[in-house]
Amino acid sequence: MPNATVLIVDDEELIRWSLRERLSVDGYEILEAGTGREALEQFKSGVDLVLLDYRLPDTDGLSVLRQLKQLDPGVLVILLTSFVSVETAVEAMQLGAFHFANKPFDVDEVSATVTRALETTRLRREVKRLREQEARPYTLRAIVGESAAMEALRQMVAKVAASPASTVLLTGESGTGKDLVAKTIHYSSARVLRPFMNITCSALPEHLLESELFGHERGAFTDARAQKRGLLESADGGTVFLDEIGEMATSLQAKLLRFLEEKTFKRVGGSADIRVDVRVVAATNRNLEEQVAKGGFRSDLYYRLNVLPIRLPALREQADDVPALVDFFIDLFNTEFKKRVNGSTPAALTLLKAYGWPGNVRELRNVVERAMLFAEGKRLDVHDFAALTTYPRSGDLFDLPAGGVNLEDIERSLVVQALKQAGGNQTKAATLLGLNRDQIRYRVEKFGLTANP
Ligand SMILES: Nc1ncnc2c1ncn2[C@@H]1O[C@H](COP(=O)(O)OP(=O)(O)O)[C@@H](O)[C@H]1O
Ligand SMILES: [Mg+2]
Repeated sequence: MPNATVLIVDDEELIRWSLRERLSVDGYEILEAGTGREALEQFKSGVDLVLLDYRLPDTDGLSVLRQLKQLDPGVLVILLTSFVSVETAVEAMQLGAFHFANKPFDVDEVSATVTRALETTRLRREVKRLREQEARPYTLRAIVGESAAMEALRQMVAKVAASPASTVLLTGESGTGKDLVAKTIHYSSARVLRPFMNITCSALPEHLLESELFGHERGAFTDARAQKRGLLESADGGTVFLDEIGEMATSLQAKLLRFLEEKTFKRVGGSADIRVDVRVVAATNRNLEEQVAKGGFRSDLYYRLNVLPIRLPALREQADDVPALVDFFIDLFNTEFKKRVNGSTPAALTLLKAYGWPGNVRELRNVVERAMLFAEGKRLDVHDFAALTTYPRSGDLFDLPAGGVNLEDIERSLVVQALKQAGGNQTKAATLLGLNRDQIRYRVEKFGLTANP
């Protein structure tokens, strides 16, 4: 750890001098104190490690150690001593001393111990950072986006998380963040220490889904050789996420409804009612209302689920969220790929905001990941997203006014704007418009535009 600060506490000036000489060579900042009182005074200016003499003129090392640990439980202390009893050694260890260096000591040995001790703190900090990183996907802040819709979504999620057990229905296209929101609801709720379990309703045939959810008794069906607890039982106290609920068979829908209303269920082949406390979060990318109208989804279950509906907007409706999401994923992949990309250029953002994102945030994440893999510049630029222009655009990008438009005028205006934005660089302008060089050159000539309008 370069630039770590080491405090040397010893009343003998010669010892302080020899340690200071050696440790300065290692690149540490050195502070010195000759008494316990001075040590505590110096300590306040920020110290990573203390070399502490056991015998001090005004007090002893153990009581200084105790006070240092009170000020900063994480501080590293190496006791310097020529003689201690076993009891003292044990007490020092219990107080959190890292090491003893026996006097007279070899300065090189002390230097090696200091390096080792600081490495331990570095590792400890790293572990803490990783834990925080692990928890980060589940905090409200993990739902990225600065648009009013995203802010409203975060507020809604916070409210739902704070309410004890209400059932939630998440709707939205694939890739809009339904999984993310379901987990955020769970991990920001009082259920956080209990299980979060999920199941994709479309992934299993009906009878398997039923026994996965509700469990089964021994002998309930041919393969049921032993009793099995279902997801609802295993997740007691926690949250069950039922993804793609629109694909659930109607007979199972009836059983789920009973559970939601009565909080009890029976295992497959069982007769006893089992009671659990589980929050159900259901999600679908289908229009359930339409399915209800067509008879593919039970209306009573729909109304029961729809008490707390949360609709996740498609990314193309929310182009304002693109910049924050791009930055978020750049940070993510900077860490993952050990890169130092510093954001994206305005031209790149214009391109990304105009794109239709049929795969929503998941697609954006993949696109940024790919760009980050190959990125060589300081910022992601239009050419890093060259593959994007070949992707299909979806949805109506422009609304045609009732009176119609002049297509040539619009085309000309877009070419002019693209050239302006690209600073007159035709290749860049072409990328902004999803054209190749010949196509842009043709239009520049057709509209009588110079390279620098
Ligand atoms: N608002 C958001 N902020 C940050 N990441 C998001 C957001 N929405 C979606 N994601 C990310 O996009 C990817 C797809 O989201 P996911 O929750 O799996 O979508 P869905 O379940 O709706 O298909 C995941 O990596 C998720 O973390
Ligand atoms: Mg999903």
